[in-house]
Amino acid sequence: NQSRQFFVGGNFKMNGSVKSVSDLIKGMNEAKLDGKTEVVVAPPALYLLQASKEVQPPIQISAQNCHTAAYGAFTGEIAPAQLVDAQIPWVIIGHSERRQMFGDTVEFVADKTKAAVEAGLKVILCIGETLEERKGDKTDEVNQRQLQSVVDVLDEKAWSDIVIAYEPVWAIGTGLTATPQQAQEVHASLRKWMAGKVSQEVADKIRIIYGGSVNGKNCRELAKEADIDGFLVGGASIKPEFIDICKAAE
Ligand code: G3P
Repeated sequence: NQSRQFFVGGNFKMNGSVKSVSDLIKGMNEAKLDGKTEVVVAPPALYLLQASKEVQPPIQISAQNCHTAAYGAFTGEIAPAQLVDAQIPWVIIGHSERRQMFGDTVEFVADKTKAAVEAGLKVILCIGETLEERKGDKTDEVNQRQLQSVVDVLDEKAWSDIVIAYEPVWAIGTGLTATPQQAQEVHASLRKWMAGKVSQEVADKIRIIYGGSVNGKNCRELAKEADIDGFLVGGASIKPEFIDICKAAE
């Protein structure tokens, strides 16, 4: 869809080193991306400052998580205001790995999203169903429940700072990419749901990106679908093919 700028995020997850993050950023700078697609990379927290110094426009940097509180006694956490202070513009919130392994409940994800947007960050908000939920015909229900908690706490205007990443858990890191039709079906259904729950304007404008085993080979087919506005890439984001994925909509 031409009215929404294509968006590609690279989630490095807990991978990399001072040197490899530097090399990846250097490779991306050298690719001379033209800015038609919005490109955001998310290295581990430890490397955010270095990445932010090394990266050149139009590429932007994202954190992989943040806390809800402004500052205080939360050992090991990063406040949204600290990301803003460090000039990190984006944060990923609600990744399924955090929901499954680190206790990020739907309410906590909603509170984090609200805190992040209020602090001035832009948010890549991840949602997605497990294989069991899909098999049980609960795909829409699960994704809507995960979004509803955020709808409940955000003002309509806050949605302009949010990108929704639909990441079916069964497709993450498995090589089992959703087919373009499967992803399109969910994205279209989420957009319709957003129109009813928030507004038609937000539904028309919000980017809904797909994540789950996206690679240099399958990205172009996925990018053709009307409601797929980009990707959140894990494994392939730390490989040279990430550059091809950034160009998938061209
Ligand atoms: O956030 C990106 C993600 O979870 C997808 O990972 O490795 O399947 O591309 P991957």
